[in-house]
Amino acid sequence: MLDVIAIGEVLIDFTPAGRSAGGNEQFECNPGGAPANVVAALSRLGSRTALISKVGEDQFGSLLHRTLQSSGVDVSEVSFTNEVSTTLAFVHLDDKGDRSFSFIRKPGADTFLDPTDVPLDRIESCKALHYGSLSMTHEPARSATRTAVLKAKESGVLLSFDPNIRFSLWESTEEARQNIYWGMNYADILKISEEELSFITGTNDVEKGSMELAQQFDIKLVVVTLAEKGCYYRMGGLDGYVQGFEVNVIDTTGAGDAFLGCLLYKILENESSLHDLTDQQMISMLTFANAGGALVTTRKGALGSMPTTEEINQKIESDHQNNAERFRPGFHFSPPSNWANDPNGLVYYEGRYHLFYQNHPYSNKWGPMHWGHAVSKDLVHWEHAPIALFPDEHGAIFSGCCVVDWKNSSGLFEDSHGLVAIFTHADINPVTSQPRQRQSLAYSRDNGQTWHKYKGNPVLAEDDLIDFRDPKVFWHPQSERWVMVIVAGDHARFYGSTNLLEWSLTGEFGSSDGSHDGVWECPDLFSLPVDETGLSKWVLIISIGDHPDCPEGSRTQYFIGEFDGNTFVNDNPAENILWLDHGRDNYAGVTWSDIPEQDGRRVMIGWMSNWKYANETPTGSWRGAMTLPRTLSLTSMDEGVVLTQMPVREVAQLRKDSMSWQAVTVARDVPFLQQTNMDLLEIEAEIDVRSGSEVQVHLKSSTQSEIIIGYDPTEQWLFIDRSKSGVTDFHSQFGCKHGAGIAAANGRLKLHIWLDRNSVEVYADQGLVVLTDQIFPDAPIEKVEISTNSGQIILNSLQIHTLGSIHNSGDTIAQTVGRNEA
Ligand code: FRU
Repeated sequence: MLDVIAIGEVLIDFTPAGRSAGGNEQFECNPGGAPANVVAALSRLGSRTALISKVGEDQFGSLLHRTLQSSGVDVSEVSFTNEVSTTLAFVHLDDKGDRSFSFIRKPGADTFLDPTDVPLDRIESCKALHYGSLSMTHEPARSATRTAVLKAKESGVLLSFDPNIRFSLWESTEEARQNIYWGMNYADILKISEEELSFITGTNDVEKGSMELAQQFDIKLVVVTLAEKGCYYRMGGLDGYVQGFEVNVIDTTGAGDAFLGCLLYKILENESSLHDLTDQQMISMLTFANAGGALVTTRKGALGSMPTTEEINQKIESDHQNNAERFRPGFHFSPPSNWANDPNGLVYYEGRYHLFYQNHPYSNKWGPMHWGHAVSKDLVHWEHAPIALFPDEHGAIFSGCCVVDWKNSSGLFEDSHGLVAIFTHADINPVTSQPRQRQSLAYSRDNGQTWHKYKGNPVLAEDDLIDFRDPKVFWHPQSERWVMVIVAGDHARFYGSTNLLEWSLTGEFGSSDGSHDGVWECPDLFSLPVDETGLSKWVLIISIGDHPDCPEGSRTQYFIGEFDGNTFVNDNPAENILWLDHGRDNYAGVTWSDIPEQDGRRVMIGWMSNWKYANETPTGSWRGAMTLPRTLSLTSMDEGVVLTQMPVREVAQLRKDSMSWQAVTVARDVPFLQQTNMDLLEIEAEIDVRSGSEVQVHLKSSTQSEIIIGYDPTEQWLFIDRSKSGVTDFHSQFGCKHGAGIAAANGRLKLHIWLDRNSVEVYADQGLVVLTDQIFPDAPIEKVEISTNSGQIILNSLQIHTLGSIHNSGDTIAQTVGRNEA
């Protein structure tokens, strides 16, 4: 039985091959024809294929026969005619390798294909039939094509259609349109180029056009090819763009056919029906197809140049590696592969800091959440550990925390102590079909190496709440019980428990306080001393989700106030908003539990991304990193008590070489310039801005990428401009300039900047104002330039430290995927 049969033209493409000694243009004879190319691509990958077509009884006809045969295509349905010659096409390539055609086909043998040539029995028993519109330009080939398509439809065979419009071959564009409509009426899979889509639907909007076609013709899968940009797909409720591959293009002939051959191969290999394919499966199939399409363009011709599975997989792998490693942070935590979001379960225990995180181990996009896990002795170097928590019968594992149950209040540790994770189980309520979020426990008796889910899960449910998640738990000595702070859509709730297993509501806060630009998420609550005053205040951290109307996307606010063991009381007026970070990429940050009292620090880490574009960032096979861990403090200002933050002192061990300057005058035409040849940097500067001129720190790559960190003394505004920072086009709001107000105390501004391969963190005045941003430079940053656009400024002091990476070269990162033990 055959996998795929194609019906349609097979011909000779004459492609330009330089000039002869006499100065005449030469052509190379390349077997081609779209349907023939598609089956050749499939055969190259291992499918059993045949072509139904006609060639002339001439040299070219025999050449096509031989080439198809040697590509593994069954040629018993490629018949010969002595009435006309084999069809020929002269290809003209422009500078970019793009082609146009002149056909020698008035008529050509392929149009002589007759309905009686169609092997109905073989079509009936194959898995897929592929057809195009070229075989419908003239009779009798048009009837032959329609006979094959109708037979396939009647037999439940998968139908794949590529209109492949060549206007010069049609009597009129109207005739072309009508025949393409006919073809689309029967297609399960439609592969169409951007130009063809716009001709047929009249719109240049790929998403709209493909939706129109899918609905009008009831097509299960529409794939729009976008040349080097990759492709767009729409399949039922799923749709998306799949990025293309960069290659040195020599000849684009056959790119679309190779793409389609590869896609059909993957679809048939999967064996599930198109409706059952997931987004992830679609993306992986289309990535394979994009790579196949790209590879064929690196060689001349098409039919004989189809890539093998090994070549395609190698291309995907090397591209992933390159992309993944180019932006892999040198000193920020990043997952070994695939997706990460919020930090979870931060706890210090038995000499180790644990960092769990929201993880989708099968994809670089958000999906069914697991808890990834890493461990560190110093908050700087991380060792990846196996996944800690897997989804189970109660759902996926959303964000949460860990505590040390020192006194075995839960009874889970047999007279000893151990780790308890308290997290949100997320699933769908079977009664209401609405999302359901309930709180559950897991525990570990071996320092977090293996985890057991508590048998009585979930331990806390509120049937009326849809958003009810991200519990953060701590021991409250004054009331001698555990306190849980958790968010419920627009407010925080407080629950108390003596054993971590049973919880009761003690208070609520916030439905009319602070920012409600997005849903409340990831709370934290702790007390901190205020300066050296001997006073303490409580800090309530609340992250707020993305809202399409807010350019800032998802971000984090905090409240200062009192907590009496039951509820939180805000010190500030309800309308006051305090932002934790004024950059775009610090979200869902929470603090470590159980850091010993002798240490006494409150250390926070955030997810260094933003829900606005988190799923689109260009990092390749891994996605989502963490901020530097930061020590939090409270300080008293005229406007009240505020939170300050600085990277933990352990980060200082990364310094390698340091350079320092004093009293440097920077004028409009005399910038400060330093080549660093190193892209991991820490920069400390104290700048005298009394002249009122704007100061700009430019971090530049050898290409055009630059990140500007600036301060405008007149507006008292500190900013990051990442609009020219390199790769920004994955989201329209990524390339932007944004900042925060800060007054330079006594006309001096202190800046402390950490630059990594994927990010920049800017701390002003000892962390009074912080900006954290992702960046994706086109090439490594290698130069620091400090300039002013008018007058002059003085750099009282400046230090540039080059930093070492936290990865050992040759690190191998293994992540084991399995399930939790019972
Ligand atoms: C915050 C968040 C949490 C949720 C988790 C899911 O970024 O939306 O509220 O628990 O991510 O991954």
